[in-house]
Amino acid sequence: MSGGPVGIIGGTGLGRLPEFAAAERRALTSRFGEPSGEVLLGTLAGREVAFLARHGVPHRIAPHRVNYRANIDALRQLGVRQIVAVNAVGGIADWAGPGAIAVVEQMVDYTHGRLSSFSDVEGEAVEHIDFTDPCTPALRQVLLEAAVGAGLAVHDGGVIAVTQGPRLESRAEIVRLQRDGCDLVGMTSLPEAALAREAGIDYATLAVVANWAAGRGPDVITMAEIEATLHEAMQRVVTLLRAALPGIE
Ligand code: HPA
Repeated sequence: MSGGPVGIIGGTGLGRLPEFAAAERRALTSRFGEPSGEVLLGTLAGREVAFLARHGVPHRIAPHRVNYRANIDALRQLGVRQIVAVNAVGGIADWAGPGAIAVVEQMVDYTHGRLSSFSDVEGEAVEHIDFTDPCTPALRQVLLEAAVGAGLAVHDGGVIAVTQGPRLESRAEIVRLQRDGCDLVGMTSLPEAALAREAGIDYATLAVVANWAAGRGPDVITMAEIEATLHEAMQRVVTLLRAALPGIE
C-alpha cells in the first residue's frame, strides 16, 4: 500500500543522507518515549522520504540503548508504510568481505534485555506476529532490481546475527554464529525489524560490511578501518537508495 513517505533508518556511517534537503524536521514523541532524534521529511529521487538516524546526530546512542519502539512509532505516526534500514555489520561468510552490501533475508536474535515489542504495554492484547520472513520479500525485490539497474553489486540474501554489543564479538562467538548459519553480524536489526512488522510496516535492510568479523580477518578490528570502509560503501548505498525509491509504492 502506498501513500506515506518511505522511512529510511540510517545506521553507523549514514547519519545523514547526502543531497537530501529536508523540507521539514519533526520532533516526535510517543508513549514509548523519545526517538533517536528528529525525523527529516523531504524528497529524494522524486519520492517522499522520512529519514531517521538510528544512533542520533551526532552518533551518540549505543545499539543496546536505542529506543527502537519510539523510532518505529515515530515513523508510523508519519504514515510510513515501508522502511529501508541501513546497518553496518561484520562479515562472517566468505562473500561478506569489507565493503560488501547485502539485501539481508533472515535474522537470528542474540540480543537480551531490549524492549522488543509494542505488546509490552500492560493491559494490551499480546500479538504473535508471523516472522517467518523478517524482511518483506517484495521490498527486498525492489532493492535487488534497483541494484541491477544501477549496476551495483549486492548480495541477494544472507542471515544476520544480531548481537547485544556495543562490544564486538570474541573469536569463539563468531565461530558459534557461523555454526548457527549466520553470514553477517550486526547489533541493530532487532528488535527494529520485529517492531516494524508489529506496526504493519514493510521492512528491508541493507547490510553494509564494515569489517571482517572477529577472527575472520586481521587480529584486531579498528574503528579507523571500519570508518574508512563505511565511508566508501555508503556512497554506493545512497546510489542504491536513490535508484530504489521511485519503485517503492
Ligand atoms: N560485529 C557486530 N556488529 C558490527 C560489526 C561486527 O564485527 N561491525 C560493524 N557492526
